[in-house]
Amino acid sequence: MQAASFDNYATHYDEHFTFSPVGLLQREAVYSYLIPILKKQQSVLEINCGTGHDAIEIAKKVKDVVATDVSEKMIQQCEAKKNGVNNVSFKARSIQDLDEEIKNVDFIFSNFGGLNCLSPQELSEFSIKCNALNKQTDLFFVIMGRKCIWERFYFKIKGDRTKANRRKSNEGVSTTINESEFKTWYYSPKEMERLFNTFKAQRISGIGLFVPPSYLNSFFANKKVLLKVVSFLDKVFCKFKWAADYADHYLIHLKKDN
Ligand SMILES: C[S@@+](CC[C@H](N)C(=O)[O-])C[C@H]1O[C@@H](n2cnc3c(N)ncnc32)[C@H](O)[C@@H]1O
Repeated sequence: MQAASFDNYATHYDEHFTFSPVGLLQREAVYSYLIPILKKQQSVLEINCGTGHDAIEIAKKVKDVVATDVSEKMIQQCEAKKNGVNNVSFKARSIQDLDEEIKNVDFIFSNFGGLNCLSPQELSEFSIKCNALNKQTDLFFVIMGRKCIWERFYFKIKGDRTKANRRKSNEGVSTTINESEFKTWYYSPKEMERLFNTFKAQRISGIGLFVPPSYLNSFFANKKVLLKVVSFLDKVFCKFKWAADYADHYLIHLKKDN
């Protein structure tokens, strides 16, 4: 179901999310921590790379990038963006099929909820493979947590209690975007730390605490001053670890704990 759904979404994804006001602000917040920690000699594996925006940016800072996604159509979008950047390659591969790749890289990156497309069983299997790594690989994931304040507030005032509480579910939630249906599971920072237990968290920070989730793009699109205010508030409050699970996403940077 997941691959076919994201195939349908691939041509609209950048317009809907990557280049939307909320998408730009949330990605900028991820980069403010990600870009300074990348190193020239690193080989990076990106999983669930979507339309490839991050892979191209990361490739400018590191030795090479292999960027992967389960959706063939997403990978086609990536190829069209390469534009002379030749240390990046794109492959249509699911996270579940990357056993060899994860062993040979220095840095594994997953942005904007790709890991939320994995069921608890699938995420656990992926964590077991990462926990078994012998290399000092960095893991850097951006995940949708369980307590997003915006989501609880917005759907409560709309009278939709099911959606307001959907992130608490362990069963997976069916989501439809642009007529594509896929399943999403939410994971708290504590659950991630428990799963990736041979790693130690270097940083856990909210992404989109005052900046809202992307389904509020149309409300915020023409409100430039308001966007500046919420973005400023995120810069102040997202650095506190306790705030991470209340944001739309959070980033977690893990290093092997020796
Ligand atoms: C919300 S998008 C995020 C895309 C991109 N990382 C970004 O920052 O915009 C989630 C992506 O995960 C991919 N995906 C879903 N399940 C996957 C799986 N099992 N293996 C690899 N990619 C997967 C989808 O095809 C989609 O491109």
